Parts: sequence; C-alpha cells; structure tokens
Amino acid sequence: MQTKIEKIDSSSALAIKIIESQHEEDLEFLSFREKLSYANISHPEKRKEWATARMAIKDALEALYIPYPGFFKDEHGKSQTMGGSGYVSLSHTEGLAGAIFHRELPVGIDMDLIREKILRIGFRFLDSSELDFLEKDPLHYTLAWSAKESIFKCQGRRGVSFRENILLEPFSIDSNIIKAKIRGTDFADHHYQVHARVLNDVVLTYTIW
Ligand SMILES: CC(C)(COP(=O)(O)OP(=O)(O)OC[C@H]1O[C@@H](n2cnc3c(N)ncnc32)[C@H](O)[C@@H]1OP(=O)(O)O)[C@@H](O)C(=O)NCCC(=O)NCCS
Repeated sequence: MQTKIEKIDSSSALAIKIIESQHEEDLEFLSFREKLSYANISHPEKRKEWATARMAIKDALEALYIPYPGFFKDEHGKSQTMGGSGYVSLSHTEGLAGAIFHRELPVGIDMDLIREKILRIGFRFLDSSELDFLEKDPLHYTLAWSAKESIFKCQGRRGVSFRENILLEPFSIDSNIIKAKIRGTDFADHHYQVHARVLNDVVLTYTIW
C-alpha cells in the first residue's frame, strides 16, 4: 500500500500514505505559506512526515474533485482551510501519514502504533468506568487512546482533558464504531461516533462531528 484513498461519502474522504522522501516538484501544489513552513522544518524525518500528510490531504481532496486550497495552523495547532471552506485533520505515526477532509463538518483523524507500554499509562487518560470495561490488552487501550485523540482533534481546542472531558461508552476490542461524548466543556454532551480499524500494527480512528 503506497496510498489508500477512501471516499467516505459525497462530502468527505480520507487518505493514508506511506511516509517517504519527496522531490521538490512533488510539492509544487503547496501554497506559498506552506512552502515557507516546510522550509523551516529542519529535522529530515519531520519534513517527510509533514510533506506526506499534505500529500494525503491533496489525495483526499482529489477524491472529492476539490482543488488544494492550502492550509494554515490556528492558535490551537489545528489546520484550517485557507479559503475558509471545509475541514481537515491530519495524523502521522511511524511510517504512515493520513488526512481526512469534510466539506461541511469538523473532522478528526488519528493513527497510533500499538505498543505494550500504553497499558502502564492508562490511568492518565482513562476514566475509572473505562478502565473497568477495557481488557488489559494493548490493542484495546490503543483504540481508546486513538478515539480520544480523534475527538480531541475534531473539536480542536487545547485544554480538553482526555480523562476528565472525553468519555467513551463500553466497546469491544473488535468494534468498528466507538461511541463517546464530551463532558464539562463548551461542547458538553456532544455525542461522537468514532470509526476504528486496525492496519497491521497501527490503529486508525476518525470521527466526523
Ligand atoms: C497535538 C496533538 C493532537 C497531536 O497528536 P499526536 O498524536 O501527537 O500526533 P499526530 O501525528 O496524530 O497529529 C499531529 C497533527 O495534529 C494536528 N493538531 C495539532 N494540534 C491540534 C489541535 N489542537 N486540534 C486539532 N488538530 C491538531 C496537526 O495538524 C498535527 O499535524 P502537523 O503538525 O503536520 O500539522 C496531541 O499531541 C495532543 O496535544 N493531544 C492532547 C493532549 C492530551 O490531553 N493528552 C493526554 C494526556 S494524558
């Protein structure tokens, strides 16, 4: 799999790409502002991640026949469309970068490598009710973590605590949908449906507002 592009519906699409080096000409589509941002990234691996994620956005947009508008980061670190139309979210993990775009609704995407050590930090991001239903399995914990990351990115504001403000309903380790809600913030009681899948040793989740 070099690139996996998925049109979710007529308004949204996602793309997952293997992170690799780019030639200058592959990045001609970037806006002037993005080219400046890219030029300021000195770490070679970060450069590849950053550029592959933007190529993933471009692929997702192509599936929807939307020209690449350019993106900038707002004060919370969330990418926003330059023209102000549509919503995007990005993620990278070891070897993979991904992006989701929606014409009308905020979106969040996350990818995480499944690692044993997540079992030791569960108490930091999980509520006691979540600790009760989750199996002591790195996959189940990573699904829970990634679902919260996707919701965090969808709402896009700093200051939302994974443990205090994002609550997951019980779900099984082979679920494709994880239901959750935000509590105790401006967006309290908004309910989310997070889509989840496993790509080899990586968990992919995404949510649409
Ligand atoms: C910023 C954060 C969302 C990045 O997620 P990550 O899993 O480390 O990294 P990912 O590769 O999946 O995502 C990175 C992308 O997230 C996006 N992002 C950063 N801040 C964001 C925000 N506030 N809202 C939405 N998206 C954001 C950016 O587009 C970034 O990609 P880019 O740098 O290429 O533009 C995450 O580190 C974070 O802050 N999480 C919340 C903190 C927290 O409460 N942690 C739990 C404590 S137990």
